[in-house]
Amino acid sequence: MQIASPFSRRVNIALAVLVAGLGVGWLFAYEPVTRNLIARDGLCTLCHIDKEYVPTLLVSRAEPHPRTPQGDQARCVDCHLPKGFWATTAAYAHFVSLTDLFWHFRDRDRERAGDWIPPRAATAHRVRERLFEYDSVTCRGCHEEAAIRPASSRGKMAHRQARWQRRTCIECHYNMAHRQVELQAGAFSGPRPELPDAVLPIVTAPSFDVTQVDENPSAGKSVR
Ligand code: HEC
Ligand code: HEC
Ligand code: HEC
Ligand code: HEC
Repeated sequence: MQIASPFSRRVNIALAVLVAGLGVGWLFAYEPVTRNLIARDGLCTLCHIDKEYVPTLLVSRAEPHPRTPQGDQARCVDCHLPKGFWATTAAYAHFVSLTDLFWHFRDRDRERAGDWIPPRAATAHRVRERLFEYDSVTCRGCHEEAAIRPASSRGKMAHRQARWQRRTCIECHYNMAHRQVELQAGAFSGPRPELPDAVLPIVTAPSFDVTQVDENPSAGKSVR
């Protein structure tokens, strides 16, 4: 005996097309919807204290990261969530406290080893190491290294050195957006990311003493 379909053949085909269309549509919408509508600053600050992180509410720092030409402040996801399908999925893994935003589980044993440091500092250190490991990929989502023209001669020298030695943004620009946390001992000593020349074109060796330009540009800025 044949079970009669509740719908005619034509309706079935139309439904199949609709479902497939919604599926494909979702694949395209997944990342923009996640970044722009779901992983908003307001969601991050359900768990992370807004006065520490939201640029307009900061109590700890006088100078938040500058606004974009459109007048918006960089959002949490701009600096903390890399782009792409799997990276987007990491946001959901983070919301259920499974991983960070780079798909890494916490290594509690390693975190507990050594001297005690305040949890806040430990978290900042982890974020820096992650940005180092991934070549400050989120910063590069807005900043094109070759196009940066620092106004000061100190900045010019530092940026030449950065391209020559392939140093990455976070090695110098830490303590830029949130409360200051001292640079940890042994910071940025892990293996450097392998980068194709197309990403960071090799420039000629700088003709100055590179050890002179190593300081953190944010050091000494006003801190409330
Ligand atoms: C459900 C709660 C929750 C939400 C929502 C949440 N986080 Fe977190 N986040 C945590 C917890 C818990 C930690 C670990 C805290 C610690 O070690 O001090 C963490 C850690 C972090 C870290 C440090 C990474 C590391 O290695 O520990 C960053 C950066 C971060 N969150 C950014 C964000 C951003 C950006 C958003 C919004 C898109 C967000 N979080 C939303 C709970 C949350
Ligand atoms: C301009 C880039 C930028 C933006 C925007 C940004 N962060 Fe961060 N964040 C960083 C960097 C870089 C660190 C690493 C620590 C450091 O050097 O300041 C960090 C560290 C953190 C940490 C680790 C603990 C700490 O305080 O250092 C958390 C949690 C965090 N950010 C959450 C957020 C949340 C939530 C938002 C949005 C309200 C946000 N961040 C917006 C760049 C940014
Ligand atoms: C949403 C886009 C966006 C992201 C993400 C972003 N920036 Fe920026 N950044 C800007 C804009 C816009 C300016 C202001 C114009 C300029 O100086 O290029 C700026 C300015 C800066 C400055 C100059 C600071 C000052 O006070 O004048 C530094 C340094 C900097 N960014 C570093 C970083 C680093 C490091 C990261 C990653 C942790 C990062 N930015 C992530 C958009 C962004
Ligand atoms: C070797 C250290 C070093 C590295 C690596 C580095 N910078 Fe800088 N950067 C500096 C210094 C120093 C200045 C000048 C700060 C000043 O004079 O106030 C500067 C200035 C800037 C400025 C401000 C330009 C202006 O308007 O004067 C931006 C934006 C910036 N850096 C972004 C980045 C980004 C994005 C990366 C990664 C692609 C990066 N920097 C890597 C040290 C570095």
